[in-house]
Amino acid sequence: MSTTTAINGKEIFDLLRDDLAAIEEEFGRDTVSKVSAITEIGEYLRAGGGKRIRPALLLLSAKLFNYKGTGAVKLASVVEIIHTATLVHDDIIDEAQIRRGRPAANTKWGNAKCVLAGDWLYMQAFRIAVQERNFRILDVLIDLTQQMVEGELLQMEKLGKLISLQEHLDLIYRKTACLFSVSMRIGGILGGATTEQEQQLGQYGHDLGMAFQIVDDVLDLTASESVLGKPVASDLREGKVTMAVIHALERCTPLERKQIETILRDRAFNGVAHADILAILNRYGSLEYASKEATGYAESARKAICTFPDSEIKRALLWAPEFVVAREK
Ligand code: IPE
Ligand code: IPE
Ligand code: MG
Ligand code: MG
Repeated sequence: MSTTTAINGKEIFDLLRDDLAAIEEEFGRDTVSKVSAITEIGEYLRAGGGKRIRPALLLLSAKLFNYKGTGAVKLASVVEIIHTATLVHDDIIDEAQIRRGRPAANTKWGNAKCVLAGDWLYMQAFRIAVQERNFRILDVLIDLTQQMVEGELLQMEKLGKLISLQEHLDLIYRKTACLFSVSMRIGGILGGATTEQEQQLGQYGHDLGMAFQIVDDVLDLTASESVLGKPVASDLREGKVTMAVIHALERCTPLERKQIETILRDRAFNGVAHADILAILNRYGSLEYASKEATGYAESARKAICTFPDSEIKRALLWAPEFVVAREK
């Protein structure tokens, strides 16, 4: 009977409410330094909100095993701090002006201070993680951080270039899926998961993360800035080719290809409008294709955890892929 009882977003939020509040407190405590610039930037970033998806995944994963220790809140804060540090550095690299609907930190404190604040946040995340005295967790976090930094570097090398789907998938794994996967695995490690269970949780996180980033890239093309909280069509303007664009490039006319290449080269919509690009993508069903791919990953995420016994927590994890695919921001 209970296997068919669906759970909704509000119920999940209720389920995690106390822990999420504890994570906010933990994050707040973790990002205080004697150097005021760091505390100010840390607080600005925390107060900017964000969906807190990665810490929520870590919590759910640990709760799947009925984990009762204090490590889940601490490590959930750790993954959110690592995520925050990558966003600070990413916004410097991308020269972003807006993040989470507010001025990006780099526009307020400048690049130099934000690079250092990002470095400090990384080290602080590891300082908290070390308290768990668990080498496996440290190993996973170190590998993750290096994958993400390598991902940013690889992406930088490919800016303005027409990359293959394979290269694109590797980039989105490093940028996003890896951290989703690690968040799930750490919850499992805390909860005493078997190797096989940890692998399943990691697979779930991976697939969910791939779906999340593919949707993020589609939203970049289709959403409005007011909903998204960051400028739209920024990927093309930053020289980034994403899944729908790769799909269209494989099918479009030489003239259409030229239009796309012009934006990637100029890093601006000069003479080619955002609407022109959307028309091309719609002509070849490319946005639909990318959305379908995201749905496929979401489905595969759900399958990855099918052997876990039914519980409220499992149902929350089965719901998350739906949320990720249907989200508007
Ligand atoms: C932003 O991640 C970076 C990407 C992986 C696209 P989120 O969309 O999870 O960012 P916040 O934390 O909710 O702002
Ligand atoms: C996300 O990369 C940053 C990382 C996960 C390292 P993007 O540059 O594609 O994401 P947004 O659009 O700025 O959030
Ligand atoms: Mg960016
Ligand atoms: Mg970037």
